[in-house]
Amino acid sequence: MPLKLSQKDRQMLEGKYGEAAKLAMTIIVRMAQVLEVDELMDITQAHIDGCGLMSDASLDFAETMARLGGRVAVPTTLNMIPLDLQNWQKQGVPQEFAQRALRMANAYIDMGCIPTWTCAPYQGTLVPRFGQQIAWGESNAIVYANSVLAARTNRYADFFDLCAAITGRVPKCGLHLEENRKGQILFRLVEIPEDLFSDESMYAALGHLIGHIAQDRIPVIEGLPKDITSDQHKALGAAAASAGAVGLYHVIGVTPEAQTFNQAFQGSEPQDIIEIRLADLLAARDELSTLRGADIKVDAIVLGCPHFSFTEFQRLAQLIEEIPERVHSAVRFIVLTNQMTYGLLERSHLLRTITDFGVEIVLDTCVFHSPLLAAKGGVVMTNSGKCAYYAPGELKAKVVFGTMEECVRSAVKGMVDRQEERWGKS
Ligand code: F3S
Repeated sequence: MPLKLSQKDRQMLEGKYGEAAKLAMTIIVRMAQVLEVDELMDITQAHIDGCGLMSDASLDFAETMARLGGRVAVPTTLNMIPLDLQNWQKQGVPQEFAQRALRMANAYIDMGCIPTWTCAPYQGTLVPRFGQQIAWGESNAIVYANSVLAARTNRYADFFDLCAAITGRVPKCGLHLEENRKGQILFRLVEIPEDLFSDESMYAALGHLIGHIAQDRIPVIEGLPKDITSDQHKALGAAAASAGAVGLYHVIGVTPEAQTFNQAFQGSEPQDIIEIRLADLLAARDELSTLRGADIKVDAIVLGCPHFSFTEFQRLAQLIEEIPERVHSAVRFIVLTNQMTYGLLERSHLLRTITDFGVEIVLDTCVFHSPLLAAKGGVVMTNSGKCAYYAPGELKAKVVFGTMEECVRSAVKGMVDRQEERWGKS
């Protein structure tokens, strides 16, 4: 199928916009051919996931593009980097690793990217609007942008995200097109106790369950409350995009493209209808833990996967204020966030409360891509469905999934302290 190119596309291919744009456009065109797409389209914003130093190729690619004169053509934010730019020395990150990470950071900054260093860009700078065509990497950010903001992006991979940012072009296909955004599978929540909806870990368990069943189909959820928060969407989407390849979900009566059942399915019928009851949510929650039972010693608590927002810090501070003790000396309590949120924390009274309790706030990075907890094993407790999903493989850790409140109580005791009845068990 011949690919229609604009005059500017052809000029990029000929090298009139420099060598980096030529290479980037060559990759875009090749991808369009592989996808059997006959047209490219403009994007007006990008988010790059390829800055995570996953391999030597990550650094090579960024430095090569920068050396060839690459400049992003659209506003482009950056995902996490493999170290905390302010505190890596204190955290014992090896010099050689740090130098490579810093070189990569500089390459992206030289290309004109915005150094946000966060996997939750949708809760900070440059939030895309309804219908905006964008090219985002990082699965949790993609699903949030598509579902909650109703911006339009495919699940872009590392390196391709930079090519899109440099050219401002992507193949016209997938979730960029209205007709591919219709719901395919209905998840109906049945008789779920109402107070469960106030708990972020319920959303993570629900996302885990939905991702597992939907895989790459577009789920539509019926029965969630209208006042679901940004943080709850974040927990749901991150888990769904980890357990499955979910890039977009709709919530009937809540998300912008699903104000009604008909709108969510664009007038079609669902391919499948799945009822979700409390027992299904409990099973999904339990699946997120690799350790269960009594007397489990905790080595680390990890919150902020995806990066913690200011409102999550407010909730954490509230929980801490209810407890007179500090974090147990044998436990490392890590909260991942970004510089923008940290700036707000510094201006509030929360920072002191949280750090005095013994929390280590880590900026810019992720436990799976920095040497912070690298494959140390042990027991990690988290309220994140995404962290629970990846920790056994990436950190060689045993995992306990719990609510934020349970994480705080467990941190103080040094032992897992969960309240299963909170989830409807007696
Ligand atoms: Fe962010 Fe790392 Fe979790 S990139 S979403 S903190 S796996």
